[in-house]
Amino acid sequence: MALGAPSIQAVRWDGRRLSLLDQTLLPGAETWLTLTGAADTAEAIRRLAVRGAPNIGIAAAYGVAMDLSARPSLGALEEACEVLIAARPTAVNLAWAVERVRAACLGAGPSTIASAARGAAQKIHAAEDAASGAMAELGADWLAARGVRTILTHCNTGALATGGRGSALGVCIELAARVEGVTVIACETRPLLQGARLTAWELQRLGIPFALIVDGAAAGLLRRGAADAVIVGCDRVAANGDVANKVGTYAHALAARAVDLPFAVAGPTSTVDLATPDGDAIAIEERGAEEVVAFGGVDVAPAGTPVINPAFDVTPAALVSALITEKGIAAPVDAAAVAGLLA
Ligand code: MRU
Repeated sequence: MALGAPSIQAVRWDGRRLSLLDQTLLPGAETWLTLTGAADTAEAIRRLAVRGAPNIGIAAAYGVAMDLSARPSLGALEEACEVLIAARPTAVNLAWAVERVRAACLGAGPSTIASAARGAAQKIHAAEDAASGAMAELGADWLAARGVRTILTHCNTGALATGGRGSALGVCIELAARVEGVTVIACETRPLLQGARLTAWELQRLGIPFALIVDGAAAGLLRRGAADAVIVGCDRVAANGDVANKVGTYAHALAARAVDLPFAVAGPTSTVDLATPDGDAIAIEERGAEEVVAFGGVDVAPAGTPVINPAFDVTPAALVSALITEKGIAAPVDAAAVAGLLA
């Protein structure tokens, strides 16, 4: 398999139905789910069968389209949009994609509303695929110019998370295709292990050298010079450049800054939210205690243990060396540079 080939897909559309590779079952089983409308798509998003900021937007767009095919009306449109937007709060791609489909439908009549929704969803899917490719090129240029060979990353930002081959992981894959000796250090990403279960699965399939570490090992390894740069994805970029991403990201940014390593964030412009002024205004999803107190179905904390389980954290713009999008790179990352990406 050629390095960088977009051989992994998590979301498929056959013109009528949405199929998702159930990411809760990876790497143990490759099981495809067939969805029929907004309600089951929202449920798949909530339980992380489909995940990653761009992919939940794509899935949600198809969720609206499927409901409108069954019931082509403005009432159905509003109901579908509401149930999907409520599925997860932090990644702005979800609301962004649903609003795009809604806008396309509002300009259509009763006989064309369903095809308008399907067309808008397919357009979003194709645009995210193209954005992945452009980000990979720009990001690999940026890393190559800094002589980066070993890259630490967090969570899963590959094909399983995006419409194409990935955001941060797409950049790593592209660099590995261009330069000999590229290695990825993948953080396991507690509590749901997107790094261990999903990033390791993707890198193994692509034949890219990597090592898996526990999240707590990252700061010490960066201090010992084990990586040349950190690159992560993002779920929402605020207007001032603050970035929300999978919980644990902020700690990696602090550790990278302490030893003067580049800390890059990659994401499509669908993740940039100029309506959110700064990181404090980003809603952080709080998930259930069961994700923390049990591991692989085995209890790892006494019954009744109180839990705090934020799924994301915010890294201030000042700690981000570069924001890599399909439209260009903001570096340094500030309000003017972020606005410039969307101009
Ligand atoms: O909870 P998840 O698995 O959906 O979180 C995903 C992340 O935090 C990714 O880093 C982010 O969505 C970027 S994916 C291109």
